[in-house]
Amino acid sequence: MAESAIIVQDVCFGWAGGETVLKSCSLTVPKGEFWMLLGTNGSGKSTLLRLLAGLLRPQSGEIKIAQPAGFVFQNPDHQLVMPTVGADVAFGLVEENLPLLQVRQRVEEALAAVNLWALQRRPIYALSGGQKQRVAIAGAIARRCEVLLLDEPTALLDPDSQLDLVAQVRRLVNSQGITALWVTHRLDELDYCDGAFLLERGFVVDRGDPKRLKQRLMQVQEII
Ligand SMILES: Nc1ncnc2c1ncn2[C@@H]1O[C@H](COP(=O)(O)OP(=O)(O)OP(=O)(O)O)[C@@H](O)[C@H]1O
Ligand SMILES: [Mg+2]
Repeated sequence: MAESAIIVQDVCFGWAGGETVLKSCSLTVPKGEFWMLLGTNGSGKSTLLRLLAGLLRPQSGEIKIAQPAGFVFQNPDHQLVMPTVGADVAFGLVEENLPLLQVRQRVEEALAAVNLWALQRRPIYALSGGQKQRVAIAGAIARRCEVLLLDEPTALLDPDSQLDLVAQVRRLVNSQGITALWVTHRLDELDYCDGAFLLERGFVVDRGDPKRLKQRLMQVQEII
């Protein structure tokens, strides 16, 4: 069996005072693949991603995830903190205490990987939504992340930038061997991934071929 970058085994989690959100939830993402996580509103997708990012702890069960892991939020304005593109990507490297030259190299490489090399000095406020998401992804690449966790990164983008972003992540997974887990509601994005999970009632009810899952969910949408 291929090596796994993410293993979730029988994870249970409930918010304080709330219902149990994840009930014996299990999934595995093979290393170097691009998988998507689907499910209705409130099914626990964001909660699961927060558990994977280590922002929350499971009440029971086990999570194993290759490190370092990077998180990309739905709204990039909640994530980008520095005034310019280059400074923002460099900011994520502060903890590593690298020599300045190496920081510069990593920032340039990461921005080149998301086709933003020319915008290094651009103020963040002067970027489009899709460009902001690519800066957030560059931050993870600069930190040499093994895994990218993306929570509806295209939710605030127009349809063209949406498909640009998903195609970009597809290329990064192919070229850099990164593993990506991408939460979405948009079925057209399934065309870009290697596999998908369907989360319902706190556990994974279906998994595998994205084409088959897309068919299944399109039929459900038609009925509704
Ligand atoms: N910070 C919180 N405190 C308490 N309950 C929460 C919190 N965040 C989410 N929940 C609850 O946990 C459940 C799962 O929420 P979650 O955000 O994980 O769903 P989701 O699948 O990401 O939904 P969506 O598709 O709307 O983003 C919901 O019932 C929600 O109300
Ligand atoms: Mg969510």
